[in-house]
Amino acid sequence: MEINGRSLVTGVMGYPVSHSLSPVFQNAAFSHMGLNFVYVPFEVAPLDLGSALEAVRVLNIRGINLTIPHKIEASKYLDGVSEESGILGVVNTVINENGRLLGDITDGKGFIRSITEDGGFEPEGARVMLMGAGGSSYAISGALVNRGIRSLFICNRTENNSLRLKKHLSEKIGFNKVSIIPFRDRNRFDFKGEVDLLVNTTSIGMKPGDLPVIDEDKIPGLRFVYDIVYNRVTELIGASRKNRIPCLGGISMLVYQGAVSFELWTGKKAPVEVMKKSLPSVE
Ligand SMILES: NC(=O)c1ccc[n+]([C@@H]2O[C@H](COP(=O)([O-])OP(=O)(O)OC[C@H]3O[C@@H](n4cnc5c(N)ncnc54)[C@H](OP(=O)(O)O)[C@@H]3O)[C@@H](O)[C@H]2O)c1
Repeated sequence: MEINGRSLVTGVMGYPVSHSLSPVFQNAAFSHMGLNFVYVPFEVAPLDLGSALEAVRVLNIRGINLTIPHKIEASKYLDGVSEESGILGVVNTVINENGRLLGDITDGKGFIRSITEDGGFEPEGARVMLMGAGGSSYAISGALVNRGIRSLFICNRTENNSLRLKKHLSEKIGFNKVSIIPFRDRNRFDFKGEVDLLVNTTSIGMKPGDLPVIDEDKIPGLRFVYDIVYNRVTELIGASRKNRIPCLGGISMLVYQGAVSFELWTGKKAPVEVMKKSLPSVE
């Protein structure tokens, strides 16, 4: 990659940021496409976020990703946000349009592209079991609702968080076909004939030795299993493969949410296969 006087700068702001995989696959994509862009990590402490985003404007940085802990606070320093960002109250991508900083969120779009393009599964009409009701579950459930799922079960360890997500889906996007499954009852629930798609958005599976988020005997009968955990092949993915249920791990979503950012900054279709291949294998 050759940097010269016309290079456009993009990057990620987080605290910490050194674990981020985005510099790896974004630079691989720029290089493959022959685009004069570079993507760099910026460690930005929470109190410095306003100054850092002002620097994006002043230094004419083309685009920024935001990761923990900046996704919620960022919008107050921006000139506008997309409708989806406004509904979710989070921003993970900033586009600098001639000094106007616009915020967007690419997780939901990335998830849908991943499950349809990589997974070959169409969520429209599906009955979905969502494990987890944390940060990532909001963008994913919102995107699934917008894609036309038939119904949603939410199953989360802390039931109040399930109720909060149910309320959000009802009030913000008018979706009411939501049932809550208590987490302790998940292995007593009859999945067969009730659920087509299982999506894990909990952090269960990040550590070797974690139990699958549901018992293995619940997996046959599902049409697709998606686990957004991306640092390793989880026990849920292992059990799905063993039972020959189509499934996908979180690397795919990670790459597609980055691909959407890439497309917002460059106006070009992202080379997702190149981006995936640039990452260390977790298979
Ligand atoms: N592939 C991707 O692109 C992508 C994007 C975003 C996140 N992720 C991954 O998704 C996972 C969740 O991220 P997040 O940002 O949504 O995190 P988060 O906001 O902290 O939410 C964590 C969720 O996991 C549940 N949980 C945590 N430990 C648990 C346990 N021992 N037993 C049962 N439930 C447990 C929490 O339940 P409570 O409500 O009860 O605490 C909550 O629902 C992480 O592994 C993250 O790396 C992947």
